[in-house]
Amino acid sequence: MEVKLAPKIKKNLLFGYSAIRSANFTLQASVLPLVQWLATRKKRDLPKSFSEHFRQTLPKLQSLLLKDSENISNNIYPVEVLLPESPVAHVLRLPVIIVDAFAAAKRREKKETKEFQERLMDLVEETPEYYKRNFHFQTNGYFGEDSAKIYDHQVEVLFSGTADAMRRLIIPRLKKHFNNDDGLGKHFLEIGCGTGSLTRFIALAFPKAKITCVDLSSSYLKVASQRLKKFDRINYLQGAAESLSLKSETFDAVFSCFLFHELPKAVRLQVIHEGKRLLRPGGFYGLVDSIQKDDDVSLNWALEQFPMDYHEPFYKDYIQNSIESLFKEAGLKSIESEFGFFAKVVTGVA
Ligand SMILES: C[S@@+](CC[C@H](N)C(=O)[O-])C[C@H]1O[C@@H](n2cnc3c(N)ncnc32)[C@H](O)[C@@H]1O
Repeated sequence: MEVKLAPKIKKNLLFGYSAIRSANFTLQASVLPLVQWLATRKKRDLPKSFSEHFRQTLPKLQSLLLKDSENISNNIYPVEVLLPESPVAHVLRLPVIIVDAFAAAKRREKKETKEFQERLMDLVEETPEYYKRNFHFQTNGYFGEDSAKIYDHQVEVLFSGTADAMRRLIIPRLKKHFNNDDGLGKHFLEIGCGTGSLTRFIALAFPKAKITCVDLSSSYLKVASQRLKKFDRINYLQGAAESLSLKSETFDAVFSCFLFHELPKAVRLQVIHEGKRLLRPGGFYGLVDSIQKDDDVSLNWALEQFPMDYHEPFYKDYIQNSIESLFKEAGLKSIESEFGFFAKVVTGVA
């Protein structure tokens, strides 16, 4: 009896921790409308039935966190994924985030989407046109190290502390594909790795796998490599996911997280083709990203609201063109999808 109860108790404890973490980020998010008002003297337009939407989304948030806790208690990934950062670092970042939210609100008001510091212009010049912008109206877009240092915290504020749990939706899929092994002899490629949040979870879940991380931003890669320095199995490569100078059929898995909604449609397909080229036959292709239109009809309102609040020029097209059909078009097989809160994980086999 006791043995049977243990995983349940573990799951409930983990869920309790995640719920408190989520409440902390939700509280931080509640300050942002005031920051926006101070910056613009304008009240943010909320959807009319905001409280009804909130009541609708809360159970979905809870079920994502419960599933995540269950995955940990079932040893699909280790409890270290929940290890909190130093509370001092967390608290010291808050004023920086508020100052950045103020600057972003000003940029949103002026519809300013291409504002970079002079010192970063060489980095900006060498990237594709679609990338040269202040995604989310964030300071210096993806080009500055300052932006990289607050990015993950900002994403957790945006998603009420569920972003990491959404990222982890892909791990059970990878584990299933590799028969629950530890990644020994396997080489994974993560594209658009950003500051390495998902990379860290994958490195913990597959303690023997080698991982190559790609991103267009050298600043984000720098922060990722500092953050993940204890893992000597990870290497970093600056480049565009749609054309990588890597040998064909090199990797056992290619995956990304929150990358595709920031790409123009044609580039989305090129990225999948490029990933497929790099996969060994039978290799795993997967991504986590925003749900798309009608994946969950009750959340369609949020998909319409998101590109109004944040600079996300490709999002409207992204939600209308199913990732599953792009996977099919690229010739991937055994395509499957699963949803969790605002995210979907789509997987296929080369
Ligand atoms: C929304 S962020 C997601 C970062 C990270 N994967 C996460 O889970 O938070 C998108 C990332 O993709 C990178 N990116 C955008 N377009 C890219 C491309 N064509 N090739 C490689 N990286 C790209 C950006 O620099 C950024 O780090």
